[in-house]
Amino acid sequence: MDCLEIKGGRTLSGTIRISGAKNAALPILSATLLAEGAFRLSEVPSLEDVRIFAELLRELGVEIKSLEDSTFLIDSSKLNSHEAPYELVRRMRASVLVLGPLVARLGRARVSLPGGCAIGARPIDFHLKGLELMGAKLEIRQGFVEARARRLRGAQIYFDIPSVTGTENLMMAACLAKGKTVLENAAREPEVVALGNMLKEMGADIHGLGTDTIIIHGSRHLRPVTCTIIPDRIEAGTYLMAAGAAGGELTIENCVPEHLDTVMLKLKAAGLKLKIIDSDKIRVRRRGRLNSVDVKTQPYPGFPTDLQAQIMVLMAVAGKLSVITETIFENRFMHVAELKRLGADIRVEGRSAIVRGVKHLNGAPVMATDLRASACLVLAGLAAKGTTLVQGVHHLDRGYERMDEKLAQVGARIRRVKMQDSDPG
Ligand code: UD1
Repeated sequence: MDCLEIKGGRTLSGTIRISGAKNAALPILSATLLAEGAFRLSEVPSLEDVRIFAELLRELGVEIKSLEDSTFLIDSSKLNSHEAPYELVRRMRASVLVLGPLVARLGRARVSLPGGCAIGARPIDFHLKGLELMGAKLEIRQGFVEARARRLRGAQIYFDIPSVTGTENLMMAACLAKGKTVLENAAREPEVVALGNMLKEMGADIHGLGTDTIIIHGSRHLRPVTCTIIPDRIEAGTYLMAAGAAGGELTIENCVPEHLDTVMLKLKAAGLKLKIIDSDKIRVRRRGRLNSVDVKTQPYPGFPTDLQAQIMVLMAVAGKLSVITETIFENRFMHVAELKRLGADIRVEGRSAIVRGVKHLNGAPVMATDLRASACLVLAGLAAKGTTLVQGVHHLDRGYERMDEKLAQVGARIRRVKMQDSDPG
C-alpha cells in the first residue's frame, strides 16, 4: 500500500502547472453520450476518477482512446448498454452523471444508487425528481434506479439546494428533451458553465450559464465537438495553500484567477501575498506567521467546500482563533482528528470547527479518509516539524494528478513509499 512520507519545514520555490479540472472532465465525458461521432477532449487529467469514468463509458459501449498528451478520442456511436453497474458507481459517486444522458439518448437507464460516502449521506433525490418532472418513469429495484421515457419533455425544476452534479445531469437531459426546461436555483460553479459551453458547441440552446436560472430549449440531435477541459481551481487553490503552509514563493500556472476570487480574498486576509500575472498565473508568497480568518463554505461563488480541509491547515498554525463553518456536507471534518494528531488545537461544535493556531505542528503517521482530507494532510506534513506519513494515498490519486511529484519539483521533501519501506521516526 502506497503512502507519502513528508519531511516538513522546507520552504517551496518554483512553478507548478495546474491540470484539467476533475469536476469538469467527468460531466464532459458524460456529455459525449449525447451525440454520435468523434469527440476530441484535451487537458483530460490523469486521475483515478477519470479512469473509472472511462471504464464506465466503455462498459456502455463507448470507444475511448487515451493519448499520451492528455487527449481523449471518444466515439459513442456504438452505445449499446443503458446500465451503470454497482461496482463502478460504488467506486465513484459521480458515475450518476450518466443517468440524464442515457435516458435522453436511449429512452432508458439503469444506474446503481451510490449510497453514502465518507463526507455525508449525499442523496441524489434532486436528480431523480428532476427527471420525473421531465416525464421519466422511475423505479428503485435491487439498489438500482431504473428510468424510462420515450422522449423527455421540458419542465420547470427548482433545486432546494444548488446541486452541482444535479444541475449538470438535468442540463444534459434537457438538451435532448422536447421543449423548454428551466432550472431554478441552479449551481453556478465554473465546471457547470464549462459543461454548458460544451453543450452549446454541440448545438444545444442554453441561456443563463453562470447564473442561478438556466434555460434550455431541447433539440433532437447534437453533434460531436472538440473541447479543452478548464484548469482545476481546487488543485490551484490547494497549491496556493501549500505555499501558505510551507512558506516560500510559488507561481501557479495554467489557472483561471477569476475562479479563485473568493479563495484569494481569504488568503490575502490571512496574510499571503498574491499577485495575478498574465491572465493565467498567480504568484503566491508567505513571509512570517499567518493571520487567523473565519471561513464559511458556500456554493460558488462562495468559499468551496473542496478547499475547507486545506485552509484549516493554515488556520492551525495561524496567529489567533478561527472559526471554519461547513455548510455543504454534514460530515466533512474527518481530517480534524488527524490534524490533532499533529498537534493542532481544534474543537468541532456542530458544523463549525474552532481552530486555535499553534506555533508549529509535529510530524506523525496520519490516515486520509477522503480526497480533500488527503490533500489537507499533505499540506499539514509540509508545515510540520519532522516526518509525516500520510496513509490512504489512493484518495489523493482520485483527484490530484501527481501531487507528490509536483510538490517535489518545487522543493518539498516528499516521496511515495510502500508502507514497509517507510520510516515514520
Ligand atoms: C460536487 C463536486 C464535489 C463538491 C460538491 C460541492 C463533482 C463531481 N463533485 O459534488 O467535489 O464537493 O459538488 O461543491 O462535481 N444534495 C441533495 N440532493 C441531491 C443532490 C445534492 O440533498 O439530489 C445536497 C448534498 O447532500 C449537499 C448539497 O446538496 O449537501 C450539494 O451537493 P452537490 O452540489 O450535489 O454535490 P455533488 O454534485 O455530489
